[in-house]
Amino acid sequence: MESNIQDITFDKKLFGADFAWGVSTAAFQVEGSCDIDGKGQSIWDVFTAKNGKILNGHNANTTCDFYNQYKKDIDLIKELNIPNFRFSISWARILPKGTGEVNQKGINHYNRVINYCIEKGIEPWITIYHWDLPYDLELKGGWTNREVISWFTAYVKICAQSFGDRIKYWMVMNEPGVFTGAGYFLGIHAPGKTGLKNFLSAIHHTTLSMVAGAKVLRELLPDAQIGTTFSCSYIEPYTDKPKDVVAAKRIDALLNRLFIEPVLGLGYPIKDVPVLKTIEKYFKAGDEANLKFDFDFIGIQNYTREIVKYSFFTPYVSAALVKAQDRAVPLTDMKWEVYPGSIYQMIKKFNYPQIKKLYITENGAAFPDYVTDGEVNDTRRVEYLQAYLKEVLKAKNEGYKVSGYFVWTLTDNFEWAEGYNPRFGLIYVDFDTQERIIKASGRWYANFLKQEILSVPVWEGLH
Ligand code: BGC
Repeated sequence: MESNIQDITFDKKLFGADFAWGVSTAAFQVEGSCDIDGKGQSIWDVFTAKNGKILNGHNANTTCDFYNQYKKDIDLIKELNIPNFRFSISWARILPKGTGEVNQKGINHYNRVINYCIEKGIEPWITIYHWDLPYDLELKGGWTNREVISWFTAYVKICAQSFGDRIKYWMVMNEPGVFTGAGYFLGIHAPGKTGLKNFLSAIHHTTLSMVAGAKVLRELLPDAQIGTTFSCSYIEPYTDKPKDVVAAKRIDALLNRLFIEPVLGLGYPIKDVPVLKTIEKYFKAGDEANLKFDFDFIGIQNYTREIVKYSFFTPYVSAALVKAQDRAVPLTDMKWEVYPGSIYQMIKKFNYPQIKKLYITENGAAFPDYVTDGEVNDTRRVEYLQAYLKEVLKAKNEGYKVSGYFVWTLTDNFEWAEGYNPRFGLIYVDFDTQERIIKASGRWYANFLKQEILSVPVWEGLH
């Protein structure tokens, strides 16, 4: 990344006293202990065991061992002055077969995590579903089977009853666009299904489940703040030729509007993505009303932007992403473009009047990290976080809704199909010894959160 670092005064107070600062993780990526204390298999346990699915054949059987090291990691959250911790529950730890018998040892684990956060003065935020469907449910069709609505709501009910006395902030799902797209259309994530039929049925059942789950939470926990999270990327056409512009609009509808608009009562964006019309095949009487829910907040998760051009060869959408590698732009280890202005554009885009509150529930970057004399000097991550945060502040100052910001992620962990290669953490993990080293970015975030007026370098690059 070409950096142009300037000294400016950049202080947490500029975001306001009520702004929520946090860090996010997900069960499958950090817990390990994949078959301990009665946990059932999830689709990701099975997918990672298959040949050729994960880079370098990695799996998450141990990963950064949060299941055992949770106290150490929560102590580190405390040390970094981070007041809010977002983590997810593993469905198969609570219900090993997805439905039926509850595994008390799984519940006990999350009680220990929640109680230790509270003891340390850290607010726990729960994501109910972050991609790890119990494998037994996948054998019955997973998200393509409409019965998933009742499986999911039963699981949500157990979470609400078990943890609702201490959890105020709930996110029903993490990025439905990614787990349905990568898992049920492209087949590059678990469960590895492909094709339009799987994709469209999974989308519809996911939206219905998300809303049904939110209703269960509202009924059982009337004082809770109920949200859900969506991935989003700023989309721009490759040229201003009408074909590229239309292609970009289609991809924008698919990546940024597909789930939020039905939830807001606007329906699926069929007008801009005609192939979505087939989703109506999966509708039953009353579904339209059941796609809508008045969430207390929406979480958006942004990393990059995408450039889109018309493509004759792409089925269904006639549009293709122009790879960041081919555009001579700064890249992260995920080969994603570093483009801070994207987060500003997304806050603007999600400024729908029906949305009450918006949080950035994930933002962060993978860069190669090296330990030198016991330290990890990840300057590029510091620059990335500062540059994106500056854009968040710009949006806030212009009057757009944004009430908080969570870094992805606490410790290096299992990055899905990419295994352990990309490191996203504020804290470095040696996966052989489980040693943790706070990176320069972690130290920067800790200082920033200390509420002091700091003069820190802020990246003033491309946007
Ligand atoms: C997901 C995380 C993931 C991160 C970086 C988000 O899409 O919620 O689980 O690790 O992005 O790829």
